[in-house]
Amino acid sequence: MTRAIRIAVLVLILAFAAVWGAAFIARRPGEGVGASFARLLGNAPPPSAGGVVLPSGTSLGGPFTLVDQNGRTVTQDDLRGKLSLVFFGFTFCPDVCPTELQAMGQVMDMLGPQAEQVRPIFITVDPERDTPAKMKEYVGLFHPSITGLTGTKEQVAAAARAWRVYYNKVTPPGASDYLMDHSSYTYLMGRDGSLRSLFRPGVSPEEMVAAIRANLG
Ligand code: NI
Repeated sequence: MTRAIRIAVLVLILAFAAVWGAAFIARRPGEGVGASFARLLGNAPPPSAGGVVLPSGTSLGGPFTLVDQNGRTVTQDDLRGKLSLVFFGFTFCPDVCPTELQAMGQVMDMLGPQAEQVRPIFITVDPERDTPAKMKEYVGLFHPSITGLTGTKEQVAAAARAWRVYYNKVTPPGASDYLMDHSSYTYLMGRDGSLRSLFRPGVSPEEMVAAIRANLG
């Protein structure tokens, strides 16, 4: 990388971190960082039905090329036509990821026939260990409809950038294996590929179902 590109990347990272930091500080009582972040990005309407309703024009999600658990290439175009629930994590995650994926599975069951119109997607931030075979085994534990996406390090980095997902490899002291530190929001994307809602970690399946139903029809 040339020095200019390195500096530009650093500036972008710092700018993004600054908004998150400001969102953290500017939280209103009872408000999550995600809601505060969305509010800082624009004139966000009050949070509704389980998620943060983002101001129109908020751009998250973007071009990506990944591979699913059956070895098929998946791009942003494959997300069109249905709503998508997108969550980033990794299969070795000890706590947050299993909880969120379990919630995702419950959402799909609770939607009943409407589940046909929703595509649940789990994208790994640990492509070194999460091969398509590993993803297949893992997402199958939670719901048969979940698509597990992985790719090269660069492909995963591009997808994470598109959704502004933070992740970092960390090795706890004394541990032989690394973990991935990562942001844990679930994104609800519209049929047109635009972001519709952002769910904080720990949101209930009921709240997600309500937000999804508000975006169906
Ligand atoms: Ni996790």
